[in-house]
Amino acid sequence: MKKLMLFAALTAAMGSGAWGAEDSLEVWMNLQRIRSEHRLFQAVSPSGGAAGSVMASPSKVDPDYFYHWIRDAALVMREVFELRDSYPEQVESSLKDYVIFSRSNQTTKNPSGDQSSGGLGEPKFNMDGSAYWQSWGRPQNDGPALRAIVLIDFAQYLIKKGETAWVTRHLYRSELPAATVIKADLEYTAHHWMEKSFDLWEESEGDHFYTRMSQWRALAKGAEFARLMGDLGAADFYAKQASQVLNSLQTFWLDAEKRIVVTTRETGGIDWKKSKIDVAVVLGVLHAGEDGQPFSVDDERVMNTALLIENTFEKIYAINSVKETSERMPLGSAIGRYPEDRYDGVGMSIGNPWFLATHAYSEYYYRLSKVILAKKSVSFSAWMKPWLESVLGFPVATEILARSNARMRVGSSSVILLDRAGVLKLATALNEKADAFVRRSKFHSDKDGHQSEQIERNSGYMRGARDLTWNYASFLSLLRHKD
Ligand code: NOJ
Ligand code: NOJ
Repeated sequence: MKKLMLFAALTAAMGSGAWGAEDSLEVWMNLQRIRSEHRLFQAVSPSGGAAGSVMASPSKVDPDYFYHWIRDAALVMREVFELRDSYPEQVESSLKDYVIFSRSNQTTKNPSGDQSSGGLGEPKFNMDGSAYWQSWGRPQNDGPALRAIVLIDFAQYLIKKGETAWVTRHLYRSELPAATVIKADLEYTAHHWMEKSFDLWEESEGDHFYTRMSQWRALAKGAEFARLMGDLGAADFYAKQASQVLNSLQTFWLDAEKRIVVTTRETGGIDWKKSKIDVAVVLGVLHAGEDGQPFSVDDERVMNTALLIENTFEKIYAINSVKETSERMPLGSAIGRYPEDRYDGVGMSIGNPWFLATHAYSEYYYRLSKVILAKKSVSFSAWMKPWLESVLGFPVATEILARSNARMRVGSSSVILLDRAGVLKLATALNEKADAFVRRSKFHSDKDGHQSEQIERNSGYMRGARDLTWNYASFLSLLRHKD
């Protein structure tokens, strides 16, 4: 009864009932794609901002998000880059402007320092490119790594197009002190990854899984790219640092609890994130993981942690007790940052689910579904049985187990082996889960697909920064990984 009333209130609040017919999910996704693309381009070099600046949101008060955050900008420009086939000129000029603006950030003295004394860890700049001098959680060392990841791909694209001169002029030259954007980001990352910094939520100081994942990927890609550019000594150095970062990533895995913790060696910042359960782990895998490598989407450590995070949020937000649309289609749980979150989008009270975190879950399951589907059979550690049963929605019975299963049990390290039929069932279940998270996003968006940073946990209304650019980037990213 209580559930039903909440449902009625929610659908009335959202107006979803009226336009939420299930056959329109695909239609909505296509519409939302177009709107998201449009809103990304609007966020780059907006009026009131320098060329190449990327606003986190147009909101200037309560909260003021009209800034260029290094992290948000890098994630947004990744998706802009992915639009290169559809809008080649606009993409190329936006990215070139972003490169020039980024170089000006790197050379602007700011509260974290200057280029040679830690200034690249500065998390955000004013939209005119000047430094932000108020107190803030700094440094944040994921930023330069995320920027290098996307710009290395852009540089390779330019080289293929015959624009090597532009690349050596602005993006990569071996010269030290670094005079180009990627080189400076890689030098900063290679020399500072082992230092504590603030996390992507700008609140905790210590060593962070998300930050380390981005540093690992940046240095691994950076090593290859430096080699391509003939910077061989640097290539070896970056590769060596990358392998050390990967070693450090292993320490985030708690084997006894079968989960990855978000932060270790905490030294400062907020003291209420006791659980260390945080969607940032999933974001790190999505933004910096690679198939076939440790901490990829189908690493059991990641799979189990992702489910734990999902189950945690399912229970704490009232809106998640509504599990179906009015057409009786499954709604995935709205996902937040971490269970103890207190940031309400404007000030500190109680935290809420976020669109970008909910999108991350959709992307995560689309990606996992694809990886699984590509296999003839899949084996799982025995301890993954609850995970499998939760995703499949039924007990792991003999019908989906491979016949050779019995023979796979070696000593105490027994495994569960799914045959092709099991693989198909699992991939389908994962794909359906992914769709359900998109439905959740649609359910709380307004009729024009606007998405603020947060979704109020009891009412389902949007709150916090309006039109958060990262939301639209995360939506385009999940679409790229569907099917
Ligand atoms: C603003 C930050 O951007 C947000 O992530 C944080 O939770 C609050 N300040 C509180 O520190
Ligand atoms: C607050 C978020 O915690 C942080 O990750 C983000 O960079 C800023 N808002 C700007 O969107």
